[in-house]
Amino acid sequence: MSISDSKPLLVMRRITKVYPDGVKALEGVDFEVARGEVHALLGENGAGKSTLMRILFGEIQPTGGEILFEGVRVRWRGPWDALSRGIAMVYQNVRLVPGLKVRENLRLFLSSLGLSTSNLDERVSRIAEDLGFKIDLDALVDELPMGARQRVDIVKSLLAGAKLIILDEPTSNLTPMEAMQLSATVKRLKSMGVSVVYITHRLEEVEELADRVTILRRGVKVGVFRPPFNRERLASLMVGEIDLKPRGRRSKPGARRVLSISRLTVVVEGVERVKEASLDVYEGEILGLAGVAGNGQEELVKSVLGILKPASGNIEVLGRSIHRTKDFYKLGGGYIPGERSEALALDMSVAENAAFIYFNQSGKTILLPSDMVRLYRELVGGFGLVAAGPWTQAGRLSGGNQQKLVVGSEALRRPKLLVAVNPTQGLDVATTRFVRNLIASMADEGTGVLLVSSDLEEVLELSDRIAVMSRGKITGVISRGEASMETIGVLMGG
Ligand SMILES: Nc1ncnc2c1ncn2[C@@H]1O[C@H](COP(=O)(O)OP(=O)(O)OP(=O)(O)O)[C@@H](O)[C@H]1O
Ligand SMILES: [Mg+2]
Repeated sequence: MSISDSKPLLVMRRITKVYPDGVKALEGVDFEVARGEVHALLGENGAGKSTLMRILFGEIQPTGGEILFEGVRVRWRGPWDALSRGIAMVYQNVRLVPGLKVRENLRLFLSSLGLSTSNLDERVSRIAEDLGFKIDLDALVDELPMGARQRVDIVKSLLAGAKLIILDEPTSNLTPMEAMQLSATVKRLKSMGVSVVYITHRLEEVEELADRVTILRRGVKVGVFRPPFNRERLASLMVGEIDLKPRGRRSKPGARRVLSISRLTVVVEGVERVKEASLDVYEGEILGLAGVAGNGQEELVKSVLGILKPASGNIEVLGRSIHRTKDFYKLGGGYIPGERSEALALDMSVAENAAFIYFNQSGKTILLPSDMVRLYRELVGGFGLVAAGPWTQAGRLSGGNQQKLVVGSEALRRPKLLVAVNPTQGLDVATTRFVRNLIASMADEGTGVLLVSSDLEEVLELSDRIAVMSRGKITGVISRGEASMETIGVLMGG
């Protein structure tokens, strides 16, 4: 049976959402999901994707419109209500109870829904087998990598009898390997008859997985498509015109070294994560550090920041040694972490967060509200930040706007050395372009950039030189001219 013949599992009609602070996030949106369908939800940052799905999952109430699930009009009192009827949501940063084993997490979850916990081990292993992976019930959830947590969360949803699973940007925090495993899982879910709503910014995932795509733009539905998808059309519907400005090469004879790493070795819990790594970053250049995530990049970055103490070797930022994180910022370092929650206090306001990044990093202790508002205005004017106002909680911004807040506040500080880790993670096409242009123009103005990214295209596009890291070692440093997917691929193999 094709999707069009079957009665839809879910129908959302004329959904409107106005947040209490007056932000109109959705306007008259229709959305439908068939049984066993993978339905992708696309749209630029702040388009309303998460809002629509939080309404479907009962996390927030719509201002208007109706939801029909299995032909019945429903009104959720909360997520437990949606869950008990067969709708589950898997978050980008999976929320499991820390300090507990996987088994205890699942037990707790089932009991809280009033569901049976008998034969749990057996049921879990059956579900996992259907999905094509294994679950270690004795593992502590805190020790699981993101991909494994996500699998636990998916199993959890099926234990609760989910007929529809919402995945909100499920691959943003995954390694490429984990992302491939997830896409296999999504296909299995589909063949089991479970429907999936798949939010993503990656068009190749849409092409691989989706039976249908709905595109949102500023809270309004602008199109629904079935395969074969036309990438350009999808992208242009999301954002309108995209500025793909190629950038000239930066030349800088006699440039100063802003970062010098020599023979750095970092040992974490007895394991050598970085082995005799040497790297230099000069002012005005972008040095890309490519490699599959988990090959020592994180430990290298943490050592540069003064968070990890190297076992041996030397690190100098602008000619000085780093002992504490404070030193890094004082000397003129800037940092964009791969995980934006590292840089933001989500329950504090946008303006306070901006000020913390802008001033506090350099040691200023007294922050005036007027300074904060000025910064906020610069972020809105210069960086396209969209927020209800300076005192809105940072946690209320869409994911992409949170990223703009971090990147923009760092950029305004004009650091001499910028360490940027996956700076465009979770950003839509237009914002990605914006952030890349911003990093390039910072380099043009003299900032030396260490760009750590698991996105090879990003590294190739931005970098003047590219270093490759594999199993803790720098396996090569090549110029932009020599670099290609192939040469880097070979170096990544170690
Ligand atoms: N709790 C909230 N309070 C007020 N406004 C909010 C809240 N959550 C989201 N918004 C606003 O609603 C709009 C839609 O946000 P939403 O999170 O749904 O976007 P999104 O499409 O998921 O974007 P992204 O791709 O960046 O995650 C944005 O303007 C956002 O700032
Ligand atoms: Mg979102």
